[in-house]
Amino acid sequence: MKGKCLFKYTNTIVETVGNNGLSLTDIKNISNKIEASYNKLLEKYSNKQLGYMDIIYDDLNKYYELMEHSKDFEYIIVIGMGGSILGTQMVYEGIKGVYYNEYSNKKVYFLDNSDPEKTSDIINLVDLNKTLIFVISKSGNTSETLANFYIIRNLLKNNVKNYNKNIVAIANDGTLRNIAKNENYMLFDVPKNVGGRFSVLSAVGLAPLSCMDIDIEMLMKGAREMDKLCKNDDIFKNPALMNAAIHYILYNNNGKTISVLMPYIERLHKFGMWYRQLWAESLGKDGKGQTPIVSVGAKDQHSQLQLYLDGPRDKIITFLKVNNFKQDLYIKDSNYLNNHTLSELINAEQEGSEAALTSKGVPNVSIILDELNEYTLGKLIFMYEMQTAFMGELLEINAFDQPAVEDGKKITRELLMGKSIEELTGFKSLNNRYIIEM
Ligand code: PA5
Repeated sequence: MKGKCLFKYTNTIVETVGNNGLSLTDIKNISNKIEASYNKLLEKYSNKQLGYMDIIYDDLNKYYELMEHSKDFEYIIVIGMGGSILGTQMVYEGIKGVYYNEYSNKKVYFLDNSDPEKTSDIINLVDLNKTLIFVISKSGNTSETLANFYIIRNLLKNNVKNYNKNIVAIANDGTLRNIAKNENYMLFDVPKNVGGRFSVLSAVGLAPLSCMDIDIEMLMKGAREMDKLCKNDDIFKNPALMNAAIHYILYNNNGKTISVLMPYIERLHKFGMWYRQLWAESLGKDGKGQTPIVSVGAKDQHSQLQLYLDGPRDKIITFLKVNNFKQDLYIKDSNYLNNHTLSELINAEQEGSEAALTSKGVPNVSIILDELNEYTLGKLIFMYEMQTAFMGELLEINAFDQPAVEDGKKITRELLMGKSIEELTGFKSLNNRYIIEM
């Protein structure tokens, strides 16, 4: 597996992007703050508060029995919400690609919403007798997860003998854990000190991924390599600390309130969605936070780039570029495209966007992977987890809780129990006013 990765921040420096960029003096000016943030994070780690940094050294043998058991199934359905499912989707699609289900012997579906059409479609696509269900909820009480699970469990109960063998639960607490124990499912825990959106390298991601022909050893090897770099206290050797500091300075001093992640490979689209949750839910607190956006190159050059180049100067862009694609195709024609490959085209487009943005003074960083595989994806995942954690320290907020999300979950539960929005939020209802019939 090719494993070389580069983090390039040349185009955030004033020499390249002018006043919209930063200088080494800006970094020096906050060197005390950077050092304090680094020390605080490492102190939390020493105090066993940051389980996501420990789990990458876990023994993976605990998934062996599950992997063997999964060989009896032709379909996998993963049920969960947010941090309990997005990471698995991101790795699965990042390694296998967008259309893998079309030609693979094992079909994988993700139930990540309470949309009745999606749930119905997925149920209709599988043969439940041959389906292994992963139901994942750290709290064990998330409404959407339980709702989808109850629907599927009912169908299994009515149609499948020994249906409990078709279910694997990952839950620490709550209703789901109780059911799993009572009905004797295969059950995994998530360490208490690992937050939802930081949990992809725990059983939350590794249990289902180990059954999807993903090399979880290599994924963890990549994460461990990155961990070594991220523990370096020299910011010039620590890509996560440097990228956090760059985002912090540009947010704080230069009004870059939007962070755009732009992968130039479709397989990283879901990585963008995972990043969007990590950055938004971890850092959007106390009136602070940078709005994350995902744009996929080259196609979004034809929908978003105009705004990035010529709109408000409120963005920092991150390009994700891959040098070697799994497949490639030659273009044959008589014009300038002749004898070029599609990978040459997409990478030329990335280079073109980078140059155009830089010349317009839009700061941008690039992460360049020699190849996108389990090893490099493991590196990327861990870099982003560390970068988010460092950014939380720099912003002086707790990156590991999500009080507003918890409020939303509570309101949903109580609405379904019959309470009114007015009772729950204290807002006076303006029902039937300020509405236009269309
Ligand atoms: O990052 C988080 O904590 C959230 O996105 C949760 O993962 C999400 O709300 C699902 O929670 P749970 O795993 O408890 O069902």
